[in-house]
Amino acid sequence: ESYDMGGHDTYMHKEITEQVESVDRVLRGRIDDRFATVRLGGLNMDAREARGVRRVKILGCGSAYHAGMIGAQLIEELARVPADAEPASEFRYRNPVVDPDTLYIAVSQSGETYDTLAAVQELKRKGARVLGVVNVVGSAIARETDGGVYVHAGPEVCVVSTKCFTNTAVAFALLALHLGRVRDLSVADGRRIIEGLRRLPGQIAEILGQEEAIAKLAAEYADATSMMFVGRVRGYPVAREAALKLKEVSYIHAEAYPASELKHGPLALIEPAVPTVAVLPEDELLEKNRATLEEIRARGGRILAVAHAEQEKADHTIVVPRNEVELDPILMSVPLQLLAYHTALVLGRDIDRPRNLAKSVTVE
Ligand code: AGP
Repeated sequence: ESYDMGGHDTYMHKEITEQVESVDRVLRGRIDDRFATVRLGGLNMDAREARGVRRVKILGCGSAYHAGMIGAQLIEELARVPADAEPASEFRYRNPVVDPDTLYIAVSQSGETYDTLAAVQELKRKGARVLGVVNVVGSAIARETDGGVYVHAGPEVCVVSTKCFTNTAVAFALLALHLGRVRDLSVADGRRIIEGLRRLPGQIAEILGQEEAIAKLAAEYADATSMMFVGRVRGYPVAREAALKLKEVSYIHAEAYPASELKHGPLALIEPAVPTVAVLPEDELLEKNRATLEEIRARGGRILAVAHAEQEKADHTIVVPRNEVELDPILMSVPLQLLAYHTALVLGRDIDRPRNLAKSVTVE
């Protein structure tokens, strides 16, 4: 991969299509089949230290924060360690309690985001152990953390993050698997996740193969005045990231909500000019999510579903290949990157350099 546009009209398009190779790269050389785990040499933590972690707090901004939300869910699911993600900026402004048994993880593409770096410095000053999940090798956050996992997305030029977001989520899956296997995650479950991870590049290629259909959907929904993005648990960070992506490149207002919260307020916004993108992984919440589609439909809202099979309550469905449920957020984010890209293309936006935004925010 290089800074060359390689025949693509934008870096965003180039970087979306590079995800087949970039996901392969974050996995390469790290899988340990014999012990159904992964080798993450850069963590600088032995098994005993990893077992001693009582809680995980993930910090990042924007897309990095959303990838961290996926990471927190993966860590809770696979390692059964309480984990949550928080915007790095909020964290440092609220004078947080810094706990010695908590593992802090700073997430950043550039490794130079001021808010995230300042959070790292404050944590280090208070004696915390901080890891980095970073793309740019040797960047400030990579240098100031105690160790970490490089996400190996390659250079990301477009202001909006796509391949780095995906690679970061995969890097978290590796970390979660590692933390799980030094605890109670079984060999069988370790193998199941490893096989799922190996399927990701091929399945991303399948999703990219649907680009033409997704471009048509983008043209259909580009007249929206605002868009709702909803999901439950695994679907929620996907909805958050997809809404951010759409806002950044198309300038269409978008809101992301947990699907369960719709009836507590945002349902009032639903009408034909405000379509909903609903993320419906085939997990234990599928039926509840289908009920949400009915609620939206009853209010005259159009629905674009992202699911593993056609949804009859939706106007359109983007069908994503099945993998292990824990990895669904990774795959389900990819078609929504394409949706944002094609919406911006239809609307004639400056895709690689959206107004008012910078690739890396190195000031407060
Ligand atoms: C991504 O689409 C954004 N432009 C933005 O949210 C970005 O993720 C954020 O500023 C954090 O950047 P970093 O990953 O370089 O720290």
